Amino acid sequence: MAQPPPTNTLPPDYGIDAPGVVRNLFTVTAVGLTLFGTAKAGLWSGVFAHVDFAFTGLSAGLTCGAMGAWMLYDSKIGKLREREALLDHLTWRGDEAVLDVGCGRGLMLIGAAKRLKSGVATGVDLWQAEDLSGNRPEATLENARREGVAERVQVATGDMRKLPFEDASFDRIVSNAAIHNVYEAEGRAQVVRELARVLRPGGEVVIHDIRHVEQLAAGFTEAGLEVKLLGSRVFQGFLALVTLGSLRPNVLVARKR
Ligand SMILES: C[S@@+](CC[C@H](N)C(=O)[O-])C[C@H]1O[C@@H](n2cnc3c(N)ncnc32)[C@H](O)[C@@H]1O
Repeated sequence: MAQPPPTNTLPPDYGIDAPGVVRNLFTVTAVGLTLFGTAKAGLWSGVFAHVDFAFTGLSAGLTCGAMGAWMLYDSKIGKLREREALLDHLTWRGDEAVLDVGCGRGLMLIGAAKRLKSGVATGVDLWQAEDLSGNRPEATLENARREGVAERVQVATGDMRKLPFEDASFDRIVSNAAIHNVYEAEGRAQVVRELARVLRPGGEVVIHDIRHVEQLAAGFTEAGLEVKLLGSRVFQGFLALVTLGSLRPNVLVARKR
């Protein structure tokens, strides 16, 4: 009988961000293109004569299709490419205690663990299915096995607004596309206070997110950290315009004195 291949020959699977949003975008694409096709075939002639069904269907279908395709590309290819660039913003000795906040299936966590020789990378998450497909701690640990760093990775269940860790527990904190899932400004301010609390003096933080990064930067400055925002204002302004303010990505790097 054929044996299943050893797990470390399989590639890691970091899931699809916001799977419900991706599904809805492709549903609107299918409906829009059907509307376009049926309008062109004359099925709507005489109905709502003042509505251009072909144009409406085509523009909604193409816009949503492009957004859905971009989200899939980013989950499967884009964010893997960005991970190393984000981690390169921090300094590494190889013995750090690292925390990945909202680690999901371990994209940043495992990238950080690969830079360690003796340290440990800890991922904390609430494992919310609506934020990431297949979001479970077992999936994160399986990805760590597939990437060959299982012995340097651990996961914890917890809310980033009230982290289950002692003060000054970590040398490096990383986070990708996670903190925007805390919808209230006060909740995000709480997250910043928690990250500042669990970071050791001299510790460093890198955060990439699709919005609210400027608020996080202001919070870290208030908590006494040195902060730099690295995102391009032109790119941020362009994306904010085409997505009606929904995407305003930026990268923050901070250091605790
Ligand atoms: C879009 S996923 C990104 C996962 C991962 N950082 C990545 O880049 O692939 C957002 C993650 O944030 C987690 N999350 C959302 N709110 C959280 C909270 N309050 N505390 C901890 N994790 C949270 C979700 O469960 C999810 O795993």
